[in-house]
Amino acid sequence: MADAFTDTRVLITGGLGFIGSSLARRLVSAGAKVTLIDSLIPQYGGNPFNIKDIRDQVTVNITDVRDQHAIAYLIQDQDYLFNLAGQTSHLDSMTDPKTDLDINAAAQLSILEACRKHNTRIRIVFASTRQLYGKPEYLPVDEKHPIRPVDVNGINKLAGEWYHLLYNNVYGIRACALRLTNTYGPGMRVKDARQTFLGIWIKNLLQGKPILVFGDGLQLRDFNYVDDVVDALLVAATHERAAGQVFNLGSSEIINLKDLAAMLVRLHGGGSHGVVPFPPERKAIDIGDYYSDFSRARRELGWSPSIGLEQGLQRSLAYYTEHGKHYWDDETVHA
Ligand SMILES: NC(=O)c1ccc[n+]([C@@H]2O[C@H](COP(=O)([O-])OP(=O)(O)OC[C@H]3O[C@@H](n4cnc5c(N)ncnc54)[C@H](O)[C@@H]3O)[C@@H](O)[C@H]2O)c1
Repeated sequence: MADAFTDTRVLITGGLGFIGSSLARRLVSAGAKVTLIDSLIPQYGGNPFNIKDIRDQVTVNITDVRDQHAIAYLIQDQDYLFNLAGQTSHLDSMTDPKTDLDINAAAQLSILEACRKHNTRIRIVFASTRQLYGKPEYLPVDEKHPIRPVDVNGINKLAGEWYHLLYNNVYGIRACALRLTNTYGPGMRVKDARQTFLGIWIKNLLQGKPILVFGDGLQLRDFNYVDDVVDALLVAATHERAAGQVFNLGSSEIINLKDLAAMLVRLHGGGSHGVVPFPPERKAIDIGDYYSDFSRARRELGWSPSIGLEQGLQRSLAYYTEHGKHYWDDETVHA
């Protein structure tokens, strides 16, 4: 599959972020000409350190996806677009819903308009989210599960996803969406819980503070290591059957949050965890238990995750033990 990208032109929005930078690294090694777009808004996951090792092999454009003119220019002549830029915090989407709307929905529409006007032969993969299912009615959650977002972010990501499907169906611009579950690994934002609670757990563990699990800690989740998500993005971009489709990503390793915290403490060889009541603003948008049925991705794309949770967490702990200061020191993050 990697050969499919040799000498192709690939644009990644959100390319200095967690998943975007891992994807960029893989595409560079596959011989693609990679351009990264990122706004580096400090509250989001973009971090120049994420691409330190490939900085000379990619083109970086510090631009906001809300800038229609810049996007229209950058989209020309690209073979692939991995559309990953997003506001990812569920809580922020509740306190600042308009910004979430502008980035996760309106900007997505203008990106697609730019494709319609300037590059209809591009292939697009959109990073959608399991959040749009809301509180599961049944488990595991498949793509036929009712859509009932519990927060503003889920609604706007749903709109972003459906604009892609619409432009595929109406204008023939090949686009598909992956509904990601909790993704973790080197490069994720760990200074706070804006991107994933796992980030702040890892930071606290490495700084000798307790991991705090909200609620009773019995909430079930599935997790994907970032390399597996990169595999899924690449296969979705190249697979003929993917266009116009949505695919859940997920894992068959299901774990509750208390056991996950205990696993991290064990792998780190020290530390502690405890359960604390949910802060009310988090409780209001909590989805309870969730894990995905990803059999459609397995059947149609031949994708399934290959990195086990323990292995992935070990790699993540090793990465932040070595590089953590580039993720939690304000002075160094944007150096
Ligand atoms: N990580 C997960 O668990 C997860 C789960 C479900 C969905 N997703 C989706 O995957 C995508 C990538 O997520 P990630 O985990 O890498 O998060 P991330 O925050 O690290 O990456 C998103 C990137 O987009 C950039 N960005 C945000 N707004 C922008 C704007 N207006 N213009 C240009 N760039 C902008 C950020 O700076 C950041 O680098 C997101 O769209 C997210 O919704 C992620």
